[in-house]
Amino acid sequence: MTKDRKSEERGVSRRQLLKTGAGLIGAGLTMGERPAFGLEPPMSAPAGAESPNETMIGVKFEPRDVVRVGIIGVGGRGTEMLGNFLALEHVQVNAICDVVRDKAIHAQGLAEKAERKKPEIYTAGDHDFENLCKRDDLDFIYVATPWDWHAPMALASMNAGKHVGVEVPAVNTLEECWQLVDTSEKTRRHCMIMENCCYGEHELLVLNMIRAGLFGDLLHGEAAYLHDLREEIFGDKGEGLWRRAPHTTRNGNLYPTHGLGPVSNYMGINRGDRFDYMVSMSSPPKGFEAYRTSKIPKDSPKWKEKYICGDMNTSLIKTANGLTIMLQHDVSNPRPYSRINAISGVKGIFRDYPARIYFDGQPGDEAYTGIETYKEKYTHKLWKEEGETAKGRGHGGMDFIMFYRLVQCLRQGLEPDMDVYDAASWSSPAALSEKSVAQGSIPVKFPDFTRGKWKQRSGAAI
Ligand SMILES: NC(=O)c1ccc[n+]([C@@H]2O[C@H](COP(=O)([O-])OP(=O)(O)OC[C@H]3O[C@@H](n4cnc5c(N)ncnc54)[C@H](O)[C@@H]3O)[C@@H](O)[C@H]2O)c1
Repeated sequence: MTKDRKSEERGVSRRQLLKTGAGLIGAGLTMGERPAFGLEPPMSAPAGAESPNETMIGVKFEPRDVVRVGIIGVGGRGTEMLGNFLALEHVQVNAICDVVRDKAIHAQGLAEKAERKKPEIYTAGDHDFENLCKRDDLDFIYVATPWDWHAPMALASMNAGKHVGVEVPAVNTLEECWQLVDTSEKTRRHCMIMENCCYGEHELLVLNMIRAGLFGDLLHGEAAYLHDLREEIFGDKGEGLWRRAPHTTRNGNLYPTHGLGPVSNYMGINRGDRFDYMVSMSSPPKGFEAYRTSKIPKDSPKWKEKYICGDMNTSLIKTANGLTIMLQHDVSNPRPYSRINAISGVKGIFRDYPARIYFDGQPGDEAYTGIETYKEKYTHKLWKEEGETAKGRGHGGMDFIMFYRLVQCLRQGLEPDMDVYDAASWSSPAALSEKSVAQGSIPVKFPDFTRGKWKQRSGAAI
């Protein structure tokens, strides 16, 4: 089946809608009124629609004593995460791949320094990762490469019978989202999105408080990636080698999952609720231009680039249960770091950066209080167990907690906390925001990657 036909079969075709007018009538509109969901056809498969495969919801890892790991990409992120794997017991890193041989050798050396078995390295070009995937001594492959490589590497891992964890965002396009879902279901291998922010101390504390009912019925969340990355993105190494390029070809939210993953867990997205539709708009692109003017010599090839991605992209997401989420992205301007990380319900509100809370009836004239008093009762068990070890490590400890939990799930034969449906739906606002922005901020429908199964599943596993 061709790609086009496959995506058309998944939704109502645009031609069909225009021919019959059924789309308008179904939305309660007459001809001439603005359609409820803009020009794009809904791409979701209707509940109960033909699906060639069984769902991955409820599928547990097969238990094992030692988790055998392969890593693709040992740049900045992959090397740091190798450190977390090496810090954990019952983990054996057997293979490492990077197109830059020196980086692979450096990573190999880190394993030896940690007195672990020397991993074999794969450095023979862009597709040598396929040979790593074929090894028969790997249970889990971790992918930390530039975004365009995530999909082919995840697919190759699953097709070779390995579970895979992909860095964020898992993929760039809706077609790739469906490829992950279809391949995970077909191969019965998990495809996780390695969204470390879901394991932050505040995020897990708030998740526990939501579960205990402290916020009452939830209404609205706010999520973002607001991070001044200008120096890194204009550098001559690491992300400076590839992360400006998408700003020259795309206009939308390029990096949606750091804020959205935790808010999705608060709201039970894909677990009793799901993203329904979104609208998006972008500010003008000015930050990179201004930075280049002040910092980059005029003879640099970077002056040939034209940046088209609006600096501040703002989206609004509506969920099937009617909740709302405000989602933002800006990496091009001076500002203090924030993922916003806010959630409100009928009984109170939490906002991060800095962390503060307000509950109905709280003394103090409608002023926020800190979160310290809630920590004793609501600190998440993962932070109780491993918080001390985690705190000295990267990103306030959440990276270590994520890998600790991953290994726990793999060893004990549990369901992963974040599965292929989360990978697809949390990453999809990238493509959907581009569509909405390109068409004057029209509403665009989210595909239902779970094919209706979100209704039967309850809260986040973490
Ligand atoms: N979760 C987080 O907090 C976090 C933080 C930083 C980066 N990331 C994500 O991690 C990923 C990697 O980012 P980074 O900062 O490490 O970038 P990087 O450029 O430092 O590292 C990428 C590595 O991939 C290698 N590579 C490129 N193509 C390859 C191929 N075909 N085969 C094998 N290796 C290949 C490069 O040589 C490089 O070493 C990105 O998806 C990024 O968004 C996540």
